[in-house]
Amino acid sequence: MTQNRVLTGITTTGTPHLGNYLGAIKPAVRASQDASLSSYFFLADYHALIKCHDPERVARSTREIAATWLALGLDTDNATFYRQSDIPEIPQLTWILTCLCSKGLMNRAHAYKASVDANRDAGKTDLDDGVTMGLFSYPILMAADILMFNAKHIPVGKDQIQHIEMARDVAGRFNHTYADLFVLPEPMVDDDPLTISGLDGRKMSKSYDNTIPLFCSEDELLKLIKQIKTDSKAPGEPKDADESTIFELYSLFASDEESADFRTKFEQGIGWGDAKLELFEYLNNYLKAPRERYNELMQDLSSVEAELLKGAEKAREYSVPLLQQVRDAVGLRSLTATSVAVSEERTKKEKSAEQLARAEEGRRRGILMQLKPLLEQVEQADDKAAVAQQLIAEKAAQVESLKKKAKQKAENELELLREEWAQYL
Ligand code: TRP
Repeated sequence: MTQNRVLTGITTTGTPHLGNYLGAIKPAVRASQDASLSSYFFLADYHALIKCHDPERVARSTREIAATWLALGLDTDNATFYRQSDIPEIPQLTWILTCLCSKGLMNRAHAYKASVDANRDAGKTDLDDGVTMGLFSYPILMAADILMFNAKHIPVGKDQIQHIEMARDVAGRFNHTYADLFVLPEPMVDDDPLTISGLDGRKMSKSYDNTIPLFCSEDELLKLIKQIKTDSKAPGEPKDADESTIFELYSLFASDEESADFRTKFEQGIGWGDAKLELFEYLNNYLKAPRERYNELMQDLSSVEAELLKGAEKAREYSVPLLQQVRDAVGLRSLTATSVAVSEERTKKEKSAEQLARAEEGRRRGILMQLKPLLEQVEQADDKAAVAQQLIAEKAAQVESLKKKAKQKAENELELLREEWAQYL
């Protein structure tokens, strides 16, 4: 059931723009309408606090993103659409996972490393300058977002792959240490992601301040389109459609046929002013109906709020019982309770092959995580083979010197290290 669960979060710090629409919102809305998928989409408002300490901006962005997704036809009966901060189980799980996650793993997170590098480049003595604990440990919050719903497929950009790997690591460690409660998630990455150009020709992004908001007014849309950068070719001169942001935006929304016609006009020397007007007409026509719906929703925020609360209720049908099992597994129990969930879990005899494989993968990851210092020693060595062989010899000697139970554990480790380093041994 959770094997086809797709989950993704949207950080609530900005106003949705055309790039967000084509890259994330449109495919998500389509997925929400697919009855064969169990989709979870949420407003990642706890994540917003990491980067943004402006409360009005966080609140406004949350309203805008919620209304945008609904205006575009998100099916909230089929998909589950909720606000992260309405799910109290997520921060609770975050803490439990935080206690399992090695600090060394977080030291390697890209977002944190980027801040440290920036501080080093700026010549600062405190490399952690400006780094909050939120930024440092945010991959764990993200892991909790995912594991809380046992989602399998996580559509993300390439920059987020590492976080999904980390979520897998922590899930594996939990399953190994306590009970096999978590599905190991997998990143779903588009190999050829859509990038769309902004007003200045660079990638459309709020950090470049070159975006076209999806639902700005008609006047604003025209004004922004007029600002799109062009070369200085005069009307009548043939123009290269493939070099033009105007053509690019047009073709991303138009049919192949319409795009081919527009291309011909470029070859025939359409003036930039006229090309911009055509783009405006097309986009405005495309966006008109959802924009109207969006404006209605922004005037009727209580209905948007009701949708989010409905989503939270649906989401908690899953998160409340799962967190209960997690609490039980780690030993947070009523004084009179015996471990129901865990003993049930442990006595379940007939596991499917898939479950067994998952448990095995979790076990592997859990052990490897504890062996990380050894793995790193080899990774950083000049003569990897020599170091690997020496560490294997030490581990083998340790196995010999140990008693039964400890011996089994060390043998497992030895076996995994032999697999990991097969190429050196
Ligand atoms: N951190 C993600 C981003 O910046 C947003 C996000 C938060 C997310 N939690 C998530 C994405 C869980 C996928 C799954 O894009």
